[in-house]
Amino acid sequence: MTERRLLLLNGPNLNLLGSREPEIYGSTTLAQIEENTRSVAVEFGFDLRALQSNHEGELVDAIQAARADCAGIILNPAAYTHTSVAIRDALAGVELPVVEVHLSNVARREEFRQHSYVSGVADAVIAGAGALGYEFAVRYLADRIGS
Ligand code: DQA
Repeated sequence: MTERRLLLLNGPNLNLLGSREPEIYGSTTLAQIEENTRSVAVEFGFDLRALQSNHEGELVDAIQAARADCAGIILNPAAYTHTSVAIRDALAGVELPVVEVHLSNVARREEFRQHSYVSGVADAVIAGAGALGYEFAVRYLADRIGS
């Protein structure tokens, strides 16, 4: 039987949410995002494993591990969105449904944020909805994975 568990991954500098450029990223802390995402996941009968890391390899390890015991991945790769072939390859390799989330609407920001290595292997991309984006991601995965 497939495990009813989702992986929530947040990349570099997202540990500073709440105090980091709140005019761009909002005032919700990472702890609040993780708690809210978990409670929405539970509503749909999912358990949630949450991890934030400032290190690319650690994110790759978590994605690889998800293959064994998760049914889907919610990922805000943060700055690695725009640089990481390793994260893209890891996501392609696990063959799980993936939602890429960005708090800010990257499409209306700087030029260097206009390319995502992750979007090409994501099933859905949510940007600009702030912390709500994570909740939308759970709803999408619950619908996609079914019961
Ligand atoms: C971000 C957008 C990225 O460009 C940036 O590097 C981040 C956060 C977002 O959530 O809006 O760290 O992923």
